[in-house]
Amino acid sequence: MPNQPKKKKGKSKLPKAKTTPLSPQAGQRKLTRPRNGLTETKKTPGRSKRDVKQKSLTVDNDPQKHRLKIEEESPEYVITQRDLFGNGHEGSKRLGYSPTYNGAPFTNFRSINTLTDLTALNLNWREADLPEKERTKHVHRLHPYLGKYIPQLVEIFLRKFAPKAVYDPFAGSGTTLVEAKALGIDAIGSDVSAFNCLLMKVKTDAYDLRKLEHEIRDSLDRLNSDLKQSLFADRRESKRTDNAYLQRWFHPNALAELLLYRELLRDYDYSDVLKVILSRAARSARLTTHFDLDFPKHPQTEPYHCYKHSRTCQPTDNALQFLNRYALDTLHRIKEFARNAKPNNKTVIIHGDARFVDLPCFDLVVTSPPYVGLIDYHEQHRYAYELLNLPLQADVEIGAAFKGNSERARKNYCREIADVFANVRRHLKRSGHVVVVVNDKNDLYDYVAQQTGFVVQQRLKRHVNRRTGRRSGDFFEEVLIWRRND
Ligand SMILES: C[S@@+](CC[C@H](N)C(=O)[O-])C[C@H]1O[C@@H](n2cnc3c(N)ncnc32)[C@H](O)[C@@H]1O
Repeated sequence: MPNQPKKKKGKSKLPKAKTTPLSPQAGQRKLTRPRNGLTETKKTPGRSKRDVKQKSLTVDNDPQKHRLKIEEESPEYVITQRDLFGNGHEGSKRLGYSPTYNGAPFTNFRSINTLTDLTALNLNWREADLPEKERTKHVHRLHPYLGKYIPQLVEIFLRKFAPKAVYDPFAGSGTTLVEAKALGIDAIGSDVSAFNCLLMKVKTDAYDLRKLEHEIRDSLDRLNSDLKQSLFADRRESKRTDNAYLQRWFHPNALAELLLYRELLRDYDYSDVLKVILSRAARSARLTTHFDLDFPKHPQTEPYHCYKHSRTCQPTDNALQFLNRYALDTLHRIKEFARNAKPNNKTVIIHGDARFVDLPCFDLVVTSPPYVGLIDYHEQHRYAYELLNLPLQADVEIGAAFKGNSERARKNYCREIADVFANVRRHLKRSGHVVVVVNDKNDLYDYVAQQTGFVVQQRLKRHVNRRTGRRSGDFFEEVLIWRRND
């Protein structure tokens, strides 16, 4: 994995952060009434006194205050946005989209090309329109990951903008990189989480499939025969660890099986694939309830009433069944993707903080940033970090749940997200586009765009069709389309 961690400390270097104007100003761009139903931009001719005054205002990175100031000081902006507002739901009054709920949702993804009018597409997929099987096809389901976006959404923007190279600063489980590979587009992904980088590498690597199959099957055979040996009792005794986390979260029998498999990894060239299999099995073999696999708080050591299965369930005491099952599933998924992907793309994976990473050139960004105070991305795969001895850098995670949702946390989030897009702008080709998929409930991202040198071109809104259970309920997200403000 080509890791390039950049350890820079201290404040970020967002240019002009303290004197960035608060509203569209002369020489920059102003949002105007569109000809075609889209929000578009125009150069304004001169520089007024008000613009000069605004330039010296101090920005305190509070998006809420910023919004008020925009509304007070820049009526065109507000009118344009309100004017465009169609049948969106409450709380989205300022946004320039008009979600369409009529007619069948759009699913002919291959038909998208550079001429496609994105606002004409109904992206409000329900389960029947875009079933889970499609959303999690081939390597997209190599390992659970909370916080992914839908691959088909990425596919749409890759086909629309047809870039030479796409960058995802928050690459996560690698959805953007996988979709780029499927279309033969070069891709760069960065993520601060070492496990996520491992996962995206395994998803996008090129494999000698016969060798991969041999290694996966051989590792399983060795594991199974080791466990069957009469000597196993002794072998298992030798499989101990001092790691308190692992001791706490696994039954000794399950842990012994995982540790035995871990011992085998070093004998194989494709050990990264085996690591992902190990991690996926470990996730299922933890002492958790079946209904709380994402963020269990305490190990479950006793039988319990299971809401998922409506019966009494036992915490698991073995990992072997999961190792066997996931090893074969992984092989199947990698083979399936190899049949679909274009062979000649290049993928670069950078393990580092997206605010500071050095990047090759790219002409499109497609990304979904972390939200403020919602998910701890390291913590959700903590078992993998402990088993695989991966470095934990949770403090560098932007918006991590453990940092909270206070006003201070939100201000930090705002500043850090702006730092990421300032870095993006430094490397993005002239007139390149940025596509951000986000639930922008704090109205932050127009501000980030302005601050970091982008023009907001469109805001599309879509209804995210949640499944059942704890994550059910209405949820909306927006697709923000920016262009470099050259
Ligand atoms: C919403 S997720 C992205 C999910 C991705 N779109 C996918 O489909 O898998 C946000 C990601 O941002 C990463 N992240 C958080 N802070 C970061 C930082 N400072 N630099 C790079 N990545 C960061 C998290 O580790 C997480 O994987």
